[in-house]
Amino acid sequence: MRETRLWSLHLLVIPIIAILLGAHFALMHYAPIFYGVSVEEARNFETMIERGKSVAQLVLYILLLAAGLYHGLYGMRGILRELPLTPALAKLVDWGILSFGIFIFALGAYVTWWTFSFKIGG
Ligand code: HEM
Ligand code: HEM
Repeated sequence: MRETRLWSLHLLVIPIIAILLGAHFALMHYAPIFYGVSVEEARNFETMIERGKSVAQLVLYILLLAAGLYHGLYGMRGILRELPLTPALAKLVDWGILSFGIFIFALGAYVTWWTFSFKIGG
């Protein structure tokens, strides 16, 4: 039951990734088409800091971070668990992946928060 729920979540986050990563790629690679600015402009530091002040961006990026990390790491767990592991090793894989995911999530969320609260000139 628990495994089914974890796997369902792995699939349920796919639309979130598809939409948010699509928007992220539209911004990072097709800015001239969708936003009327050059790719360099869309990616430069000042623009990034300016954009980072938006609450919507804070929420959506943290959501993409969580969805992408969960989907990717759950998928990787599935691959690793197909190896002939002892129960102890399978547990180690679970804990290792969970800890790694929490660490990267904390780091990514912190960076997004840092951008959100960044003030030019200190
Ligand atoms: C719109 C984007 C994406 C779509 C449509 C998508 C779709 C899927 C689907 C349908 C599966 C198979 C699920 C199953 O039957 O259990 C899957 C597995 C997987 N996905 Fe994604 N995915 C996307 C993005 C990503 C991203 C960004 C990552 C990496 C961070 C990722 C990593 C994986 C991994 C590692 C697996 C497991 C592969 C395996 O078991 O062989 N995917 N994905
Ligand atoms: C060449 C491709 C990419 C470029 C140039 C790029 C660029 C950026 C930039 C400049 C930011 C800072 C926020 C902003 O200015 O809007 C950002 C944040 C982010 N990107 Fe990307 N990105 C790329 C690919 C990806 C991919 C493939 C993923 C996920 C599968 C992704 C997920 C994220 C997430 C979750 C954040 C916000 C979280 C954080 O700051 O840690 N990006 N990206």
